[in-house]
Amino acid sequence: MQVLVTGGTGFLGSYLARALLAQGHQVRLLGRNFAPVQHLLAQGAIALPADLRDRAAVVAACAGADVVYHAGAKSEPWGRRADFHAINVGGTAHVIAGCQAHAVRRLVYISSPSVIFTGRDQHLLAEAQPYPRRFTSVYAHTKKLGEDLVNQAIGLETVIIRPKALFGPGDTALLPRLISAARAGRLPLIGDGRNQVDLSYVENVADALVLALDAPRAVGNTYTITNGEHVRLWDVIFELLQALGLSTQLRRIPLALALVAAGAMELRAAASGQEPLLTRYTAAILARTQTYDITAARRDLGYNPRVSVAEGVARTLAAVQQNRRTVEPRNRGRATPSG
Ligand SMILES: NC(=O)c1ccc[n+]([C@@H]2O[C@H](COP(=O)([O-])OP(=O)(O)OC[C@H]3O[C@@H](n4cnc5c(N)ncnc54)[C@H](OP(=O)(O)O)[C@@H]3O)[C@@H](O)[C@H]2O)c1
Repeated sequence: MQVLVTGGTGFLGSYLARALLAQGHQVRLLGRNFAPVQHLLAQGAIALPADLRDRAAVVAACAGADVVYHAGAKSEPWGRRADFHAINVGGTAHVIAGCQAHAVRRLVYISSPSVIFTGRDQHLLAEAQPYPRRFTSVYAHTKKLGEDLVNQAIGLETVIIRPKALFGPGDTALLPRLISAARAGRLPLIGDGRNQVDLSYVENVADALVLALDAPRAVGNTYTITNGEHVRLWDVIFELLQALGLSTQLRRIPLALALVAAGAMELRAAASGQEPLLTRYTAAILARTQTYDITAARRDLGYNPRVSVAEGVARTLAAVQQNRRTVEPRNRGRATPSG
């Protein structure tokens, strides 16, 4: 098939493109910076440089595609509200318009479980969980508005995939940001350290996305994707820190205090334009239990996570140790993963 991957230059999009190429599909990548994906271009993927805010360019990029994966997004934990809206909501509207204009058969929208995060502990959430009255970040809100547009789109098959907390070699967001913060001596243990989360090894998510390409039962549905394992987040973080020879003696901060401090940092950041060390959203993400039920993805997509968290962590660690530069985050020392 002819497949367009927006965000094909990013972490998840590049793994997805690799999996699609391996299956013999013709893959086009929409993005702005193609330096990280030269290996995909060498394998036959085609680069379509475009900004998601450029309606005409995005619509044109959809021409000839059988399936479009929309993974492109502003997914940093901090940024201008207007940019989140223009890229995540406006960009999604442009992708839908492109699919409709060029009779694309199926659109797979990569959303996020953050759209149902309340900021409190949440156990075994299923897809039917309603959206909260207040979103925990502008990122989460704009991903939800993107879901609304996809759910309302007519004339094409749509599938929404919400992968939780991606990790793996090449990631610059989640674990490497925590490691970087720890290296800088700026990683506190927020909360009681016993909160459970479901992580997602990036290749497992790419598998789920490839399954969503033509799974007949998936049309019109939303699926959470995780590794299907509940792990204690801080156990994983400590394992990484220990393996890297970093101190695990972290300063403990109750979540309530972290939220107050992060709120003040956000106010300062709004005035200075500089990303805060910590956001309230990230503090809650690091301290709260968030586990999910992935029965629907197993049943309708035939999804089965191949790589365990333990194996995924070992691979991530090996990549961090082998070549720190390939996985080193862009914002050194900031404990602010998104997703
Ligand atoms: N990482 C997670 O834990 C997580 C969890 C849940 C959901 N997700 C979702 O998964 C998707 C991929 O995330 P990721 O972790 O792979 O993020 P990433 O590595 O930051 O990739 C983001 C992608 O979006 C593209 N992009 C951003 N702004 C753009 C713009 N204005 N115009 C064109 N392209 C733009 C980037 O392209 P350039 O770099 O070329 O500009 C990049 O390819 C996102 O939709 C995100 O919301 C991620």
